[in-house]
Amino acid sequence: MAKIAEQQPVAGPLRILGIESSCDETAAAVLEDGRVLSNVVAGQAVHAAWGGVVPELASRAHQEHIVPVVEAALREAGLPPDALTAVAFTQGPGLIGALHVGAAYAKSFAQALGLPLLAVDHMRAHVLAHFIRDDQQRPVPEFPFLNLTVSGGHTLIVLVRSPLDMAAIGSTLDDAAGEAFDKGAKLLGLPYPGGPQVDALSSQGDPGRFRLPRPTVPDLDLSFSGTKSAFRNLVLPLRDDDGRLSPDLVPDLCATLQQAILDQLFAKLTLAVERTGITRIGIAGGVSANRGLRGRLAELADRHGWTVHIPPFAYCTDNAAMVAMAGDLLLRAGRTAGLDVVPLARIPQR
Ligand code: KG4
Ligand code: ZN
Repeated sequence: MAKIAEQQPVAGPLRILGIESSCDETAAAVLEDGRVLSNVVAGQAVHAAWGGVVPELASRAHQEHIVPVVEAALREAGLPPDALTAVAFTQGPGLIGALHVGAAYAKSFAQALGLPLLAVDHMRAHVLAHFIRDDQQRPVPEFPFLNLTVSGGHTLIVLVRSPLDMAAIGSTLDDAAGEAFDKGAKLLGLPYPGGPQVDALSSQGDPGRFRLPRPTVPDLDLSFSGTKSAFRNLVLPLRDDDGRLSPDLVPDLCATLQQAILDQLFAKLTLAVERTGITRIGIAGGVSANRGLRGRLAELADRHGWTVHIPPFAYCTDNAAMVAMAGDLLLRAGRTAGLDVVPLARIPQR
């Protein structure tokens, strides 16, 4: 199938509209040559009552939010739609019904305006968030660097050779780190998403009061399903007959869970540094907001002379600025998509 617009040599400022709808955030952003003009995110409160993302409800909420969110992004950017150079959207991985909403909208938008379409891999976009420019001055990582991508759905150690040349050298064999945080929090009766609550309560808790086993997974791969089950086996017998936990146990349990998750992440990240000899480290994904994780990373960086890159939080969690950034790089490389492009629930990262 023909490309929507013939590939032109890249000239003048690139103004990219990014659209993100892979999970439970409907987001749109406009970047001009990698600089943020707007970055709008609409969360979906509907999932809190269910203690986790309900895919069907996510798709419906994306349908409600997508038009106003894109309009807000254009308004905040101060640009009419015909000032855009291209439209980038998250092709996957993610919830397939949710992805379809963003994909269909992006295709229609691109077709109506005759703009090039750019299909973005969400996991690569998390890594490319390091290259987003805004009013704060931050050094961008030099290549090659290692990126620890930790989110609700993914846990990857990525070797990034150049903006469009990256591959996971380690990945979780089962659940993601964020999933372990969220499911652990749910067992403790904490609201969804539980990661931030576990983070906050951990600082008041003793991680040595209880013990969780550490998994033994070969090479740079990781596993969190065992941590989840072991935590469940630890918590259930501590509940009283009404299923309640004494509140004084909760901070210690949070600290125990957080330490088990971070111990594994840092064991594998340290091994990745040893194996590759690369000491430039980036982090991305919602779990990278974790204060314990940031503290330990800073400590290791000090001790071993690592250079650490942490994007502002707004670009760590799911957002469309990272999608537009990835789109910018794809467009410069001439990698536009045709109108027959389809969303993909899974995209291999190796
Ligand atoms: O990257 P993200 O916004 O969405 C996905 O692509 O999954 O990540 C969401 C995940 C959730 O599991 C959430 O609990 C976790 O990031 N998270 C945290 C913290 N803030 C968000 N986990 C631990 N500590 C935090 N402070
Ligand atoms: Zn994500």
